[in-house]
Amino acid sequence: MTDKTLPFTKDELEAIAAKVPTPFHLYDERAMRRNARALRAAFAWVPGGFKNFFAVKALPNPHVLEILREEGMGGDCSSVAELQLCEAAGIRGQDIVFTSNDTPAYEYRRAHELGALINLDDLTHIDYLERALGGQLPEMLCFRYNPGPLKEGNAIIGKPEEAKYGFTRDQLFEGYRRAREKGVTRFALHTMVASNELNPEYFVETAQMLFDLVVEIHRRLGIRIELVNLGGGIGIPYRPDQQAVDLALVSGGIKAAYDKTLVAAGLAPVRIAMECGRMVTGPYGYLVSRVLHKKAIYKDYVGLDACMANLMRPGMYGSYHHITVPAREGGPTKVYDITGSLCENNDKFAVDREIPDPQPGDLVVIHDTGAHGHAMGFNYNGKLRSAELLWKGGADFAVIRRAETLEDYFATLDYPGLTPRA
Ligand SMILES: Cc1ncc(COP(=O)(O)O)c(C=O)c1O
Repeated sequence: MTDKTLPFTKDELEAIAAKVPTPFHLYDERAMRRNARALRAAFAWVPGGFKNFFAVKALPNPHVLEILREEGMGGDCSSVAELQLCEAAGIRGQDIVFTSNDTPAYEYRRAHELGALINLDDLTHIDYLERALGGQLPEMLCFRYNPGPLKEGNAIIGKPEEAKYGFTRDQLFEGYRRAREKGVTRFALHTMVASNELNPEYFVETAQMLFDLVVEIHRRLGIRIELVNLGGGIGIPYRPDQQAVDLALVSGGIKAAYDKTLVAAGLAPVRIAMECGRMVTGPYGYLVSRVLHKKAIYKDYVGLDACMANLMRPGMYGSYHHITVPAREGGPTKVYDITGSLCENNDKFAVDREIPDPQPGDLVVIHDTGAHGHAMGFNYNGKLRSAELLWKGGADFAVIRRAETLEDYFATLDYPGLTPRA
């Protein structure tokens, strides 16, 4: 079970919403810091060091990246914009991993200029990268392994053998051999096979799979892998009846695998990395919205001033996000579909959800929006994305991204007379 009590009071929230119009995402800075420290502490045993490269796509805001950098994290990027956000937040050099997939040459060049560790997605990208960088590969390279049928995926990420990412097992050996021939001297190994996975054993199995590969790569090619990146994917308890992943279990299982495989083979120290996004910021974000309308037709509806432009996950994956109505907690409940105003019928934050019966004007809080929340937003139907606020305790907060305006929406159109009107 996971306690879904809000960290702020109704009055604190009203005080914030009196200063910034809803909807907005509110991120709990203190909780993010506590959680980042717990992750770091869980892996303090790793000889050579552990680092989580925060998946920037989960929450691409430099204010948050700066906090995570202060807590010892690097950045995992897969676009030029994400690289630039890291650079601005002081995450530089090998504290950045650039995980490519269908990557254009200019993105590789930018990642290389920043000194990022480049994680290649395909055998053919070795030559492509070499050409992109003017004939010289970086000193160190990482390859993404796709284990195919050897590993089960899950609903969000799909089955590995149907995923577009990574090298097959045979290609991996060929890739390291070829990269060494071309002058690469330092090597890393990566995989990313899970998303929102709550079973701690899954991460231990993934680590074991990669550690076995490290041993085999050394045996067959004489190449020492110095960094193993287990990817992200640690899940979070979106539902109150779910349990957060026990980091001590994950870490303890990985340590046992490390000792029996890498230490026993004489290949330690090997650094361990992860690139978790969701578990780092997800539970500490809240989408704060107000009830605009209630409507009773064949079903009962509560309409909010937020919509799927602010949070796609329920409409896109049918994902559960817990919902609290701070002013009505403990009061009579009723079953509603909770909707936004986007002109798509899947613009629903919840379907058939029993909640304390809200009234128009009430604040409604949608939980666990701190990762893949605001970031996944879009402008379909001319909907504008909301502000992001950093909550520091009480009624103290900072606006770390303003809400989009019609000027922003029209900015890429060159058309006479198109001036924003409220
Ligand atoms: C390459 C890569 N690394 C890390 C992540 C972060 O995953 P999560 O936020 O589930 O930890 C993703 C998510 O899409 C990803 O594609």
